[in-house]
Amino acid sequence: MPKIYIAADHGGFDLKGVLLDSLADYDVTDLGTSSKDAVNYPDYATKLATALDYDRDALGILICGTGLGMSMAANRYPHIRAARCVTGLDAQLARQHNNANVLCLGGRVLGDELAKHIVDAFLHFSFEGGRHQARVDQFSC
Ligand code: RB5
Repeated sequence: MPKIYIAADHGGFDLKGVLLDSLADYDVTDLGTSSKDAVNYPDYATKLATALDYDRDALGILICGTGLGMSMAANRYPHIRAARCVTGLDAQLARQHNNANVLCLGGRVLGDELAKHIVDAFLHFSFEGGRHQARVDQFSC
């Protein structure tokens, strides 16, 4: 099972709590935020990107209101391949084809059960390599 780092802003705080409960069997480190007080999502994307820089085999989950800001902020880091997913198939293909190492979710646009399904898919599937490797190599380091 992969090590997981998770972080959220205030827009993703509630969903983070739901996912922490559902991921009880995993080794999960919660990087905040720790309340619903307003914070700036890039700060949390940076915290998670820093953790993954030291732990390259780990996976990350970032949650903001839409998942959009977190994905934009996280993808500024060369070692991050962040995918904002709204379906389980998105998450499956983000892992199999894009070797995504960070899942971005929207706490204000996803129901809890759908979010858990997306996380399950992200954790279940792995990178297929093969023809996808050269494509990922074109934008990764
Ligand atoms: C915060 O209000 C909101 O902008 C943030 O959670 C996120 O949705 C940004 O993309």
